[in-house]
Amino acid sequence: MSRSRAPSRWAGLGLGMIAFAVLRWGLVQARPAGQPAPAGPPAASPPAPGMAAASDARLRLLDLFPSAGGPVSHGPAPRGLSGVGVEDCAPCHAEIAAEWASSAHARSWTDVIFQAEYKLTPEPFCRRCHAPLVQEPAGEDSASRVLAATLAGRGIDCAVCHVRGGRVLGVRGRGDSDHAAASDARLATSAFCGSCHQFNFPAPEPGRRPRYHPGRPLQNTLREWEQSRHSGKPCQACHMPQIAGERSSADRPRAHRDHAFRTFEDRAFMASAVIVKASARRRGDKVEVTVTVTPGAIGHAFPTGDMFREAVLTIRLGDQQHTELLRRDFALTITDDARGHLLGEVEDTRVPARAARPWRRRVVFAAPAGAAPQPTAVDWSLELHRLPLDDARERGLPESLVRVPVSSGTARLPGR
Ligand code: HEC
Ligand code: HEC
Ligand code: HEC
Ligand code: HEC
Ligand code: HEC
Repeated sequence: MSRSRAPSRWAGLGLGMIAFAVLRWGLVQARPAGQPAPAGPPAASPPAPGMAAASDARLRLLDLFPSAGGPVSHGPAPRGLSGVGVEDCAPCHAEIAAEWASSAHARSWTDVIFQAEYKLTPEPFCRRCHAPLVQEPAGEDSASRVLAATLAGRGIDCAVCHVRGGRVLGVRGRGDSDHAAASDARLATSAFCGSCHQFNFPAPEPGRRPRYHPGRPLQNTLREWEQSRHSGKPCQACHMPQIAGERSSADRPRAHRDHAFRTFEDRAFMASAVIVKASARRRGDKVEVTVTVTPGAIGHAFPTGDMFREAVLTIRLGDQQHTELLRRDFALTITDDARGHLLGEVEDTRVPARAARPWRRRVVFAAPAGAAPQPTAVDWSLELHRLPLDDARERGLPESLVRVPVSSGTARLPGR
């Protein structure tokens, strides 16, 4: 069962696209066909989903982020600063501000793919991480609507990660002569990132039947990291590399950690995630192609994060023929039960964070007979899809936005 073929499956329920999308995220329970989703969270909310997983003491330590709803409260502007917007930090932290502006964190609310999904599932739940400065829908008057839109549009800004109780938090706590600062070692930990990058399907609303996996991970990146070969170094080591920098005119060292959090835009970084090896040889009349896939310099499964990510490996005959020899999806698939409830088993075919042995496939096919032109090479390519291509098409998202090249190569085939 593959989620990329899900739309027709869900359409059969007769709930229409909106309900379909809600089901995909598993945010509401069974309800009669056609009944709209509840407008807001239930009055007596169960422990809020997301943020820290309440069962994990290591995560509960991170009270930097609210675990029971409500926006991140950064408090008043630290002494020395007139505000906590990015524009208040940029004059002195220009490189970091520019990197941040290009990051997914800056786009957490405005991101095209997020907005496409949110339009189908406009749950207050989503704002917890994607618009952490405002979580309640705006009041009726236009002033509060404008304010809410502005705060949401700020995405995950400097203050969300760095400002609490009138102080700027940093690993070392420097900068006190320019602004009140405090040292907070938690910023250097994976648990800090896990505050948003590790969360479960929400608990079912009281009195409603669960349609999904309450208490099971919806994003599992921190757990995957704990199991990976790289658990000795935190997320920051790979995702916030140290940038040497020059001395600014004010003679301030500008060496800093990269705040661009680049992934899909960075070909070399993507290619480092998994090691693909392919070889081809002749055995009599047959051609035998072997491919192996092993985790590379990656601290979690590939892909990780959003549950609709998938990676696709294809192997084709080289030359003009381009015949597809093998196609394999690496993805997390949550299957449904007979009645279309998202309660089936979870099938995880991703490249794991730690593999005892490589994933290996062998394809054998007959070489063209007689004097027919012989293949001289096989080409392989690995792509990451931010959404299954069928879903992207339905949402009107261009393929070029959704398809991310990861790596590719060629295995030569010796002549006969
Ligand atoms: C507990 C935090 C949290 C909540 C709640 C949350 N998300 Fe996310 N979301 C994330 C994180 C972290 C990522 C980045 C992981 C990744 O890129 O794979 C992400 C990524 C995404 C992406 C991929 C964006 C892209 O550019 O490819 C989409 C789409 C998305 N979320 C939609 C939603 C929707 C819709 C909701 C509400 C139903 C929601 N999220 C609720 C944390 C959250
Ligand atoms: C008037 C200049 C100025 C402004 C404005 C400013 N900073 Fe700083 N900040 C500094 C200096 C100087 C340091 C110490 C040297 C360094 O680490 O770059 C510093 C250090 C820091 C640190 C590192 C703390 C540590 O652990 O060493 C953080 C984080 C930080 N600032 C965040 C911010 C944020 C967020 C804003 C906006 C809300 C901001 N700064 C606005 C000058 C400024
Ligand atoms: C306040 C919540 C929050 C915190 C804290 C947070 N992230 Fe994120 N992160 C997100 C969300 C939400 C997204 C997805 C934004 C989008 O594209 O819609 C994201 C995106 C990313 C991406 C880009 C993925 C992509 O789709 O390109 C990376 C990498 C990342 N985060 C790493 C980290 C690391 C490392 C840390 C810790 C230093 C961290 N994040 C802390 C919420 C958070
Ligand atoms: C997603 C969370 C996140 C956001 C958003 C963020 N930072 Fe940081 N920042 C960190 C973390 C984590 C560290 C510490 C990394 C470490 O040393 O392990 C850090 C370190 C710093 C430092 C210390 C110097 C360095 O780079 O080592 C400064 C200064 C800083 N950030 C400024 C800013 C400013 C200014 C913004 C907004 C333009 C910003 N940060 C946005 C997470 C964030
Ligand atoms: C050893 C290096 C390494 C460590 C440690 C690491 N990552 Fe990654 N991460 C990567 C690489 C390489 C990629 C690019 C491949 C990919 O997209 O999966 C990536 C991709 C991502 C993405 C993009 C989503 C996706 O499609 O896979 C997110 C989100 C992310 N990492 C978050 C984290 C968080 C959170 C942590 C810590 C809990 C972490 N990473 C630790 C190397 C690392």
